[in-house]
Amino acid sequence: MRLVLILPFLLALAGCDSQIERFETNEVYALTLARSRSVEVDAIRADVADTLDMLFGSPDEPRWPESILDQPNRPLVDSQRLSRAAGPVSSEKDGTHRGSFREHCVICHALAGSGAGPASSFQDPYPRDFRHGVFKWKSTERSAKPTRDDLHRVIDQGIPGTAMPAFARLSAEDLEAIVDYLIYLAVRGEVERRLMAAAIDQLGYAETLPSDELRLSGDRSNEGGEVVREVVNKVVESWRNAREGTVAAPGWEELRGPAYSVSVGRGQEIFHGPIANCVGCHGKNGRGGVATLDYDDWTKEYSTRVGLTPSDRDAMRPLREAGALTPRPLNPRKLHDAVLRGGSDAESLYRRITQGIAGTPMPAVTLVEKEDGRGLTQDQVWDLVRYVQSLAKLDQGESH
Ligand code: HEC
Ligand code: HEC
Repeated sequence: MRLVLILPFLLALAGCDSQIERFETNEVYALTLARSRSVEVDAIRADVADTLDMLFGSPDEPRWPESILDQPNRPLVDSQRLSRAAGPVSSEKDGTHRGSFREHCVICHALAGSGAGPASSFQDPYPRDFRHGVFKWKSTERSAKPTRDDLHRVIDQGIPGTAMPAFARLSAEDLEAIVDYLIYLAVRGEVERRLMAAAIDQLGYAETLPSDELRLSGDRSNEGGEVVREVVNKVVESWRNAREGTVAAPGWEELRGPAYSVSVGRGQEIFHGPIANCVGCHGKNGRGGVATLDYDDWTKEYSTRVGLTPSDRDAMRPLREAGALTPRPLNPRKLHDAVLRGGSDAESLYRRITQGIAGTPMPAVTLVEKEDGRGLTQDQVWDLVRYVQSLAKLDQGESH
């Protein structure tokens, strides 16, 4: 209700209907680096911004950095779809709708994908900062990028139990265009972060600018340009390889009657046992209530990891002024009667358990061939999956 009342105001703030020339710099990361590496970041900020403008264009006119890609012909995003999702909201004579990202997403995820849009501070969890290139609800390994299908599903179905809405009514063309635009923002944002770090670690940016030879640039004529080329290709490559990171979930069996109950019983034991130790975070029978005082990686980066206490308002002030959201404790979920955010089907749960949840403290269990006291076998993971499903009171056969 509250959101509805303030929506017009927030949309105006988000600049949905205006021209925007430049993406905002990742000021929070620049400050984090300044603090952790004890260097001045003014020169880095300026050179990284110029390099990014040249390679990736602007919010109104996004560009894909084809000129410096090693394999420009291996498609990842399509320029036409990018420009369709970008820019202010408009419709063309032929009915083509433009600007869906600004129309539907900036209010929470912000123009550059920082996750700190005008409506973000009311939310828990906060909207994702796409610029880390880290995603939670995916079918791939913990460290791998999500596939297009994963992004598709999150946008189409939303993330239940969070503010992330389902956009099931988007046209197929708009949805595809938004997926491209999302990958574009994630690549651009991760390149920005990596270039800021590389400027210090590889090119010697500090109080003074490095020599021309070492300055960051969008062409490959100097060493700085060579570093840019490497960083961009590395990030683009990780997205191209997302599919290869898919986690197979073999051996699922639909059980009924006594066989089912026995499996759930074994799962319960594993849940409370020393190897998986799910109980250590999720509490007895997944009822929660364990105080772990921890945060997610997105907010930890600019607080506890650089020696700041999230509740210390004075110490956090410069970061907040730069756009950082105040870190909120991330509690292990109550699994009893729970809404599962990443899918309640057996495959999704298998992946959650064997990979953990990227960007959060939820760890992966080690898969082993035979019971050895250190990890779980595939069958034991399926026992655990059945137990978790039984806690969440889910229909066994459910999948999507
Ligand atoms: C009302 C706020 C809101 C709006 C509008 C919104 N999101 Fe989100 N989004 C969220 C929140 C909150 C999360 C984090 C959920 C979590 O951590 O489980 C999120 C997470 C995501 C994720 C990360 C999924 C993952 O696996 O980590 C993607 C991708 C995403 N949103 C895309 C979009 C796109 C695209 C749009 C516009 C079509 C959009 N969102 C609009 C709030 C919003
Ligand atoms: C170190 C603490 C920790 C341990 C140990 C842990 N978890 Fe979690 N778990 C979390 C946190 C934190 C979240 C919430 C992540 C989020 O939504 O961002 C979570 C979320 C979950 C979810 C919800 C996923 C969804 O789709 O919504 C499931 C299911 C889950 N854990 C199962 C398990 C199981 C099974 C084990 C044991 C193998 C386990 N967890 C061990 C911390 C932990």
